Amino acid sequence: MIPSFILKNGVEVPAVGFGTYLIKDIEEIDRCICQAADVGYRSFDTAMIYLNEEGLGKAIKKCGIPRDELYITTKLWNDSHGYDKTLKSFYASLKRLGLDYIDEYLIHWPGLNDSFIPTWKAMEKLYMEGLIKVIGVSNFIKPVLIKLLDNCEIKPLVNQVEMHPIFQPDDLVAYCQKNNILVEAWRPIARGKLRKEPLLTIARKYNKTPAQISLRWLYEKKARSLPKTIHRERMIENINIFDFELEKIDIEAINGMNTFIRTGESPDEFFSSEIV
Ligand SMILES: NC(=O)c1ccc[n+]([C@@H]2O[C@H](COP(=O)([O-])OP(=O)(O)OC[C@H]3O[C@@H](n4cnc5c(N)ncnc54)[C@H](OP(=O)(O)O)[C@@H]3O)[C@@H](O)[C@H]2O)c1
Repeated sequence: MIPSFILKNGVEVPAVGFGTYLIKDIEEIDRCICQAADVGYRSFDTAMIYLNEEGLGKAIKKCGIPRDELYITTKLWNDSHGYDKTLKSFYASLKRLGLDYIDEYLIHWPGLNDSFIPTWKAMEKLYMEGLIKVIGVSNFIKPVLIKLLDNCEIKPLVNQVEMHPIFQPDDLVAYCQKNNILVEAWRPIARGKLRKEPLLTIARKYNKTPAQISLRWLYEKKARSLPKTIHRERMIENINIFDFELEKIDIEAINGMNTFIRTGESPDEFFSSEIV
């Protein structure tokens, strides 16, 4: 039902995954994950800092989807950078999730003083040991990514960044794609704030919603997206985007919506270990 992107190491990654930021309550995470799995999601995005790894792990076991059909992402938080701390934090996430490997493990933010370099060494070790199937980064802007590529043995396979019609990091996306790094779009429906032109007119043209148009636009840009919702009908809506194609004129109109203003933290400035 949900098509995949194929990474350069051959791993197939669902083009749309289920975002779980702010779904913390244990009953809520259980319900959301089981409903999302029921309507067709196989990929789930969490992070140590979302405080829901344990609930997510329990829910995926409960809903009975075979492990090899699931694609689970989690992320290393800022206070755990460094070689030894990364290993420790990874094993803690693995335990909370109740898994024996993680499909995708990301450095959540680049951190201070090039701390991502020893952190990445630990990620490479875990990848070589088969405990992580896909290693990657998140919120890495181009100069930081270049520095990582200059200092790594295994290149990152993904970069998860803010991307939606209101904020389009085109230069970074082009650089990632040139280097075979899959771009993952966080906040892909701009937290539902897309009821504006030209999206409303385009949505009417295809008999879709603005959220669906945004998610389709991301897919056509070869970016994987991670929409979050606690509502079953929206879970269905957010993956019902593979039965139409946007015309070039509409893609260009959405390209024209870029404000160059982030809705989230700037990777240039955000290093705190206390806030998400
Ligand atoms: N790597 C990072 O630093 C980072 C940062 C932020 C997020 N993320 C990941 O990316 C995921 C998505 O980002 P996000 O949660 O910030 O934003 P988002 O997915 O763009 O938007 C979520 C918001 O939109 C609403 N919504 C969902 N589907 C909708 C629809 N079809 N129509 C209208 N509104 C809809 C949701 O409300 P309801 O729940 O009430 O439906 C929720 O308030 C996160 O959950 C997380 O997994 C990663």
